[in-house]
Amino acid sequence: MRKSKIVRIAHDLLESLVNKNDIIIDATLGNGYDSLFLSNLVTKIIGFDIQEMAINNSKETLKNITNVKLILDSHENYHKYIQNYDGVIFNLGYLPTGDKSITTTSKTTISTLEKMINDHTAKFILIVVYPKHPQGQIESQDLLKYINNIRNYSVELINYDESIIQDYIILLKKENI
Ligand SMILES: C[S@@+](CC[C@H](N)C(=O)[O-])C[C@H]1O[C@@H](n2cnc3c(N)ncnc32)[C@H](O)[C@@H]1O
Repeated sequence: MRKSKIVRIAHDLLESLVNKNDIIIDATLGNGYDSLFLSNLVTKIIGFDIQEMAINNSKETLKNITNVKLILDSHENYHKYIQNYDGVIFNLGYLPTGDKSITTTSKTTISTLEKMINDHTAKFILIVVYPKHPQGQIESQDLLKYINNIRNYSVELINYDESIIQDYIILLKKENI
């Protein structure tokens, strides 16, 4: 798979943030490429997607990989499946090969983020944001508002430029409190 610029940046960041013993949540499995990348770097990945097609595509991408658990459920319900985790990736938007009307939404993304921030378990939460499609633009605006009030995590914007609509990353890093 040829990686887009933003995915390359996200993967480089992930590589610098994870340790071999980590358990990572992939909040948006999609075709499983982020989980595939992480599978060589960490102990376990728990991946969520609301679409059966995404789970099936991920099964195919990850067919020789044994440390990724695939869960057909919204990331909002992650507490049902996992309590202790070291990091999280959200790669927002729609399944590139699927129905483009099924996308992540700010309501669900932010309510999940809020729970994760309250857990204060993850050392990082990396969010790849795609503001070029209409739902992505709404999600981006809502997230930019939301991160102004985040507690206990530092906030960094990567590849973000206020004057251009382009894909970017929000990186939250746990502060020691
Ligand atoms: C851009 S794709 C993810 C790309 C993926 N990480 C990869 O490596 O191929 C976004 C995915 O988020 C999924 N999604 C949307 N809302 C979700 C939710 N509430 N919980 C989990 N997954 C969700 C979509 O079904 C879609 O497959």
